[in-house]
Amino acid sequence: MAFTWTKELETGNIQIDTEHKQLIKAINDLLEACSSGKGRNEVIRTVDFLSQYTKTHFAHEQVLQQKFHYPDYVNHKKYHEDFIKVVDGIAIRLKAEGATIQLVGEVNMQVGNWLINHIKREDVKVAKHILSQK
Ligand SMILES: [Fe+2]
Ligand SMILES: [Fe+2]
Repeated sequence: MAFTWTKELETGNIQIDTEHKQLIKAINDLLEACSSGKGRNEVIRTVDFLSQYTKTHFAHEQVLQQKFHYPDYVNHKKYHEDFIKVVDGIAIRLKAEGATIQLVGEVNMQVGNWLINHIKREDVKVAKHILSQK
């Protein structure tokens, strides 16, 4: 089942929201590649894109946090770093083992659900802080 963008996920910061939509699409593309038997190359391509785009987005978000002196920057950066490790670990295993049911489950739970929760719990606070500083 694909992840969908909802109003609840909107932080109000256009750059952050645009990148979150792209990230959700990247997760859906990976899940689609895993489940539709599109083959190994497509799985590798989509997981590599997700890993790279995650890093790009987190870097942008962290620059914004520093620029606006976000008080919870250190913890937020740690959440990002831990998530990058999860995604990279899954990428390595997907390449080695292929899209097993176990791994697809991890993409759903540890990547998709994590991102949705992170946006709702943490990124909305960041966007609110930025707005209050402008
Ligand atoms: Fe974040
Ligand atoms: Fe984010």
